[in-house]
Amino acid sequence: MSAGREGDDLYFYINGKKVMENHADPEMTLLSFLREKLRLTGTKFGCGGGGCGACTVMVSRYRPATKEIIHYSANACLLPLCQLHGAAVTTVEGIGSTKTRIHPVQERIAKAHGSQCGFCTPGMVMSMYTLLRNRPQPTMEDITETLAGNLCRCTGYRPIIDGCRTFCQETNCCQTNGSGNCCLDGGKSTEEPEQEKPQLFDREEFLPLDPTQELIFPPELILMAETASPRTLTFHGERTSWVFPTSLEELVRLKTSNPEAPLVMGNTNIGPEIKYKGVVHPLIISPTRVTELFEVTQTPQGVWLGAGCSLSEVRSLLEKLVPQFPDEKTELFKALIQQLGNLGSQQIRNVASLGGNIMSAYPNSDLNPVLAAGNCKLSAISSGGRREVSLNQDFFVSFGKTVLKPEEIVVSVFIPFSRKWEFVRAFRQAPRKESSFATVTTGMRVFFSEASRVVQDISIYYGGMGPTTVSAARTCKALIARPWDDEVLSRAYDVLLDELALPPSEPGGKVEFRRSLTLSFLFKFNLEILQKLREANVITDELPEKIRPLPREIQPSLQEFQHVPKLQSDLDPVGRPIMHRSAISQATGEAVYCDDVPRTDGELSLALVTSSRAHAKITGLDASEALRIPGVVDVITAKDIPGTKVLTMFGYDEELLAEKEVSCVGQIVCAVVADTRAHAKQGAAAVKVSYEDLPDPIFTAEEAIEKSSFFEPRRMIEKGSVTEAFKSVDRVHEGEIRVGGQEHFYMETQSMLVIPIGEETEFNVYVSTQWPTFTQGTVAKMLGIPSNRVTCHIKRIGGAFGGKITKTSILASIASVAAWKTNRAVRCVLDRGEDMLITGGRHPLLGRYKVGFMNDGSIVAADIQCYINAGNAVDESIQVTEKILLHIDNVYNIPNLRASCAACRTNLPSNTAFRGFGVPQSLIVIENIVDNVAAVLGRPADQIREINMYKGKSVTHYKFEFSPENMLRCWDECKAKSDYSARRRDVEQFNQQHRWKKRGLSIVPIKYGIAFAEAFLNQAAALVHIYTDGSVLVTHGGAEMGQGIHTKMQQVASRELHIPPSQIYISETSTSTVPNTCPSAASFGTDSNGMAVKNACQTLFQRLQPIREKYPKGSWKSWVNAAFFEKISLSATGFHRGPDLHMDWDKMEGQPYAYYVFGACCCEVELDCLTGDSRTVRTDIVADIGRSLNPSVDIGQIEGAFMQGLGLYTLEELKYSPSGLLYTRGPSQYKIPAVCDMPLQFNVYLLSDSHNPHAIYSSKGIGEPILSLGSTVFFAIKEAIAAARSESGLVGPFPLDSPATPERVYLACASPFTQKIPVSKPGSFKPWALNI
Ligand SMILES: Cc1cc2nc3c(=O)[nH]c(=O)nc-3n(C[C@H](O)[C@H](O)[C@H](O)COP(=O)(O)OP(=O)(O)OC[C@H]3O[C@@H](n4cnc5c(N)ncnc54)[C@H](O)[C@@H]3O)c2cc1C
Ligand code: FES
Ligand code: FES
Repeated sequence: MSAGREGDDLYFYINGKKVMENHADPEMTLLSFLREKLRLTGTKFGCGGGGCGACTVMVSRYRPATKEIIHYSANACLLPLCQLHGAAVTTVEGIGSTKTRIHPVQERIAKAHGSQCGFCTPGMVMSMYTLLRNRPQPTMEDITETLAGNLCRCTGYRPIIDGCRTFCQETNCCQTNGSGNCCLDGGKSTEEPEQEKPQLFDREEFLPLDPTQELIFPPELILMAETASPRTLTFHGERTSWVFPTSLEELVRLKTSNPEAPLVMGNTNIGPEIKYKGVVHPLIISPTRVTELFEVTQTPQGVWLGAGCSLSEVRSLLEKLVPQFPDEKTELFKALIQQLGNLGSQQIRNVASLGGNIMSAYPNSDLNPVLAAGNCKLSAISSGGRREVSLNQDFFVSFGKTVLKPEEIVVSVFIPFSRKWEFVRAFRQAPRKESSFATVTTGMRVFFSEASRVVQDISIYYGGMGPTTVSAARTCKALIARPWDDEVLSRAYDVLLDELALPPSEPGGKVEFRRSLTLSFLFKFNLEILQKLREANVITDELPEKIRPLPREIQPSLQEFQHVPKLQSDLDPVGRPIMHRSAISQATGEAVYCDDVPRTDGELSLALVTSSRAHAKITGLDASEALRIPGVVDVITAKDIPGTKVLTMFGYDEELLAEKEVSCVGQIVCAVVADTRAHAKQGAAAVKVSYEDLPDPIFTAEEAIEKSSFFEPRRMIEKGSVTEAFKSVDRVHEGEIRVGGQEHFYMETQSMLVIPIGEETEFNVYVSTQWPTFTQGTVAKMLGIPSNRVTCHIKRIGGAFGGKITKTSILASIASVAAWKTNRAVRCVLDRGEDMLITGGRHPLLGRYKVGFMNDGSIVAADIQCYINAGNAVDESIQVTEKILLHIDNVYNIPNLRASCAACRTNLPSNTAFRGFGVPQSLIVIENIVDNVAAVLGRPADQIREINMYKGKSVTHYKFEFSPENMLRCWDECKAKSDYSARRRDVEQFNQQHRWKKRGLSIVPIKYGIAFAEAFLNQAAALVHIYTDGSVLVTHGGAEMGQGIHTKMQQVASRELHIPPSQIYISETSTSTVPNTCPSAASFGTDSNGMAVKNACQTLFQRLQPIREKYPKGSWKSWVNAAFFEKISLSATGFHRGPDLHMDWDKMEGQPYAYYVFGACCCEVELDCLTGDSRTVRTDIVADIGRSLNPSVDIGQIEGAFMQGLGLYTLEELKYSPSGLLYTRGPSQYKIPAVCDMPLQFNVYLLSDSHNPHAIYSSKGIGEPILSLGSTVFFAIKEAIAAARSESGLVGPFPLDSPATPERVYLACASPFTQKIPVSKPGSFKPWALNI
């Protein structure tokens, strides 16, 4: 079928409006259609692969057979437009807007402070909205399940959950806080009367949910479904045609004549293949209108489920069947239900089909092992007729392939009832507990001879143990006809180990972990079976502990902050929990992000061509084929750059576009511009770059150390006399810790739009950057024009976390060169995978240390060497090394301390600033030292921490005097609020009672320096205009990236001008209004810009003073008017010079910080030693942030940072291939925390009675400090591991690198299963991934 042929009209509804598309392109997704064609930009692009939920919409369909309307959430990025024929789609714009009426979901998420950068918010809103359409009074479990597939990088989820919780019936009173009080009253067992406790939001304000107000399903679609006689529909695009057969016969005919054409159902396998692997299907067949594929038939032996049923439908069908039959008959059903509950996200399960899951034949499919173990079969049809095929070991032949012939279609799947004495179980372990493909997954079934422990039949299948679902047939054989007892099972473990061996370089890595998980799962199965046999009185043995799942019920949390002073005017918003000023428009989808700016005439899209080699000479670049692709306009190379071709930092040059040589995979070589994004991508894929590899690329810190490959200068600091001190200590401990890197994973990928004005080389750059001035300067230099021709505009940023400073400037410069060369507007929005590949992240660190201490626990000397992996360009790595060293003491007064830090130059993409800027790596090194000192001495770590803390008037290792009083207050308060001592006892008791579950409790303090050590970066400016109608426009140098800086500036202006915040507007950050700005970073944005805004407002207020005196009874508006007529300027700039900080690295002394933020965090975790999974059951954070300007914003920063830290230290793992290619290039491979990672109880307390003379209104910067306290979870896990190790007789310190992923945790537990796994000798094989 060829392009350009007439096709049918596609006909569906969006937000109650009919859409008729007569040239529907089968390659177009609903997301592209909404954003590019309809300009409905509320639905966001976060990943494009179904992994983040930012694009969630609600799809509604009418089912003529049952006459019901169904509503389900789906990822618009995977929904083919053509699939929507006859459906009604609701997007965030369709449920409410500020122009009409906002929907209660939008209101509650916004007012509960659940929207920071707001990029995830429309997706959250739509997931929750869909839930409410189906269940107006959901349970907490419904909510957490619904939001499992919606990622948020800013909030830490707590406020989103709290906003959504208000829809639950049970929230009328939670009755869970144990005191008989309602959780919603804000606290328990405190002396302060309940009514006096300030609240973050007021439930009374909320609009009620009124289901009658919702959009109705279009009657026209019902009529169409009921009356129109179905006919085959076809749609033709440029490269692909789509056909919708209406009957099984037609489907068979089509498939017979086009056996290679995929049957697209949910498109969750085919979609990502087209997108990421560039697969082109000339024909797609969609069987969604073939009713036979959706039929459900019950027989005495079981149930036939239509292969087209979605996984959600399968789950709910099985759930309905279970109560209708005796327990024993539904063993398989229950195992499938359990597995379906954990498979993907709700959005995925709502569209992914049963047949699609089986036929995709993923090696780690969750269903296939259970279906296979459960003796399921399927019915397949082709022109040759129907046949039944067993889903057994012969069915899955190789990666993604089954025994079915290409022309065969799965019509239905048979799920048998189980028999008496038959038991079926399913287990899985995944990098993240929810919304994540499994590492290993299994289905196990055993059938006993009547009332005996003798195995009559057994089948065990695993996923994740090779290229296909595999059968453990030999293991089963070792169990058949034998009694289910320890002796037989112990032999079975050995057989299993031998049977499912993986080569050490197996794709996917984690070989030891995967192998021992197979044993763990068999052991778990054994425990469950023993329980069953015992219940049936077949055995009377003493049973080992019953293993329960990790706790998952989210409890109400506490947020404690202080009232504003009694005398503060009610009109003064400073210190009050004011909602983020854009939260409502973020929740309605009206908030405009860079890629939401409408297309301009003749606009081009830019796609990048990046290096596929880590270290090579470029020997050729052939763009001829790319230029022949329709729509491709030009290919931009280094030769096209009219100005400077390099970005120089610390004396090192970084090429914008590589010309002769590449030094990492992912380095940008050239760029293709075309009329559409799709054409630009096709063009980029067609550019041929040839290389000649250069020898010995360097990837790891060890390799860099060996080859002395560093960016200079290397920094060192010393206090006391370390060498001498080691001679007099009682004990010495040496060790090493590795801290993995971290991807920023801002939800909005790097985005920019460069518009040439058309005269005098003037450019408008709309860009998502934290540092507009740097972008402006870089663009100007690259174009060889003065900065006054380049204006950068930032409306808002969908998250940044340090990743949108230097790297954004490089990308914006390339887009600007393209705009300059073509004289057309150029838009560049990176795909998630490209973004992760190219832009680097947090520096991985290798820390080596030697510590000397006394038997009483006091640390006398420490010698620490840190190496960070900077990648191929210096970027800000030297400053990162400096900040690492300046925080290496954390809160400890170590009299003899020597530390050095070097930035390793390697052939990986260059790393850059990331929230905390080295401190999170530094903190874990020193805290690990303290933790190990405790382990050597056999004492609780909190005691060692306390012994070594700064006390009284103190001096740091860089000779800076400070008072640790508030740090000690945070520590004590954290211990008290968390009930630390009592819970420590509880934890010990728990650990004594459980062999395979362990708990850990940890408390960690922090001292974090605020402001830039480079004094010039501490300045800020603002511009404030008052218009004659009394409205005020504030502009300042800070970029709004979710941290709420605009909200705080509005509060400052409101206080200074004595007018309500509603009269103050902040439109954007722009280099033409406030020039020469500093980055919004270092937690210093509010400190500096707040003072500048204050300064400008005070100037204006003073100017109005004579007018106020003249008209004392006047109003703000009348004074402003009068001032205008009296020719008083109503516009003022404000400036803040900021502190003159400095650090002299030669003298090893200075004052690099304006002040410190202090805090302490206590976390308790529960660990499943048989899988390595853990759950944070409770977190209490006490933070000293002075007098908070806005407690809701500040608590939001604390919670969000903590969760990002939790991700860094326990979850997020970057994997590189041995040739330096980043494997983890999307949410499917790289797991940031999701709702399932939230602490079950998450309490935050702002330290009372704290003042700070160094920042605006006595506040403190809080953007970064708390991230490092995520390490508390790491140390709690470490404690739980230590408890597990002691069961195997292992005591004392043990190595544990960060992140403490389930794999590392599991192996560190050193269970009898891990000890069985032979470890391959390093060097004897090529590992799948590098250990960076
Ligand atoms: C973000 C994400 C997370 C996921 N997480 C998990 C997870 O945790 N566990 C897990 O097991 N899976 C997971 N999956 C995989 C998902 O379950 C499968 O992709 C899905 O079930 C495939 O069904 P589909 O209808 O979308 O298939 P499609 O993409 O529409 O089709 C897939 C293939 O199946 C073939 N096919 C479909 N129906 C039939 C039929 N009736 N007869 C013959 N061939 C047919 C098609 O020809 C095609 O080749 C995830 C997927 C995504 C995108
Ligand atoms: S953009 Fe669709 S799920 Fe991420
Ligand atoms: S608010 Fe959720 S990603 Fe920013």
